[in-house]
Amino acid sequence: MILVTGSAGFIGSNFVLDWLAQSDEAVVNLDKLTYAGNLENLATLKGDPRHIFVQGDIGDASVVGKLLAQHKPRAVVNFAAESHVDRSIHGPGEFIQTNIVGTFNLLEAVRAYWSGLAAEEKSNFRFLHVSTDEVYGSLKKDDPAFSETNRYEPNSPYSASKAASDHLVRAYHHTYGLPVLTTNCSNNYGPYHFPEKLIPLMIVNALAGKPLPVYGDGQQIRDWLYVKDHCSAIRAVLAQGRLGEVYNIGGWNEKANLDIVHTVCALLDELRPRSDGKSYREQITFVTDRPGHDRRYAIDARKIERELGWKPAETFDTGIRKTVRWYLDNQDWVQHVQSGDYRNWVEKNYAGRAR
Ligand code: NAD
Ligand code: DAU
Repeated sequence: MILVTGSAGFIGSNFVLDWLAQSDEAVVNLDKLTYAGNLENLATLKGDPRHIFVQGDIGDASVVGKLLAQHKPRAVVNFAAESHVDRSIHGPGEFIQTNIVGTFNLLEAVRAYWSGLAAEEKSNFRFLHVSTDEVYGSLKKDDPAFSETNRYEPNSPYSASKAASDHLVRAYHHTYGLPVLTTNCSNNYGPYHFPEKLIPLMIVNALAGKPLPVYGDGQQIRDWLYVKDHCSAIRAVLAQGRLGEVYNIGGWNEKANLDIVHTVCALLDELRPRSDGKSYREQITFVTDRPGHDRRYAIDARKIERELGWKPAETFDTGIRKTVRWYLDNQDWVQHVQSGDYRNWVEKNYAGRAR
């Protein structure tokens, strides 16, 4: 079996659902259930003996140590993190705690477990750390895309905390020989994406008749990847990745934020037209920019394609259509995640941004 952390969140839950759809290898799911963790994402696994959920913190060495001793996983896949850049700007503390200290404690518990394994299990064991392209900083318009050898230049408390965790993972391989793999992926989108991030926020706000807040001039560029493609890339790296290596994962799909918002509006105009016949574009509102906002991310995903044969299966057109449909078909999920904490966050982040 494998231990997957943070798998009640957006990407982790997609990963577990896909994993168990393709394999009978069981998953132990360790998640603290922060505001971003939602067991409803995994509701279809209720009663499935291949999925064992444990609520706990990756930073709690005794919980992790007990889980490892009890279930003896052959691999750990670490998704657990604080993941939202804007939240890291308002309050970096949790990011330091989970992304740095938490990853450190997790690595220590895994190292103790791995050290005690028999020779064959020890050499087959893998620790896969899921990270982000944001560690590489911001690109200028004509810069080449991020490759695995780009230097780290993180610009937000979030990306700095992820960069620190990547360095710890690297050091545990270099110093202790822990069999690690690191993936640095671009922006994901798809089902179960928490509506604090750009694409789900725009869909949810549009349908609710609320403003669509575009930061600054909306010309910041991200490289979007459908979440299921990220999951298949992680499976490929786990299965065949070279130990100690880093693999960049991306969609070859650079788009400016404003274009993304226009695409979402056009799909909603088609699939769920406004009752007044106007376009959802009418709801776009330009608001004050994110402090330190990275201008452009782009991933050079040639290494993972060359070494592991991985390529994204979805184009942006197919992926975004599926995503908008999913939100239209899952309005109950949306209502349930809009908890008190979420409403407080919206007030904190957007009050005072109006321009
Ligand atoms: P998310 O915020 O949706 O989910 C994070 C999950 O981790 C939640 O279920 C949360 O409860 C859990 N968690 C948080 N702190 C924890 C702790 N201390 N112990 C145990 N569980 C904890 O995040 P996501 O978007 O699914 O991202 C998952 C991972 O992928 C993160 O490491 C993130 O940095 C990375 N990543 C995300 C993207 C993206 O576009 N979302 C892109 C590249 C990499
Ligand atoms: O690049 C990978 C990263 O992508 C992940 O590591 C992060 O966990 C993930 O949250 C994401 O970070 P971004 O900051 O790029 O994603 P977000 O959805 O928050 O914002 C995408 C872009 O849209 C960014 O340029 C900011 C802008 N934006 C965002 C929000 C929430 C807006 O213009 N308005 C908004 O309301």
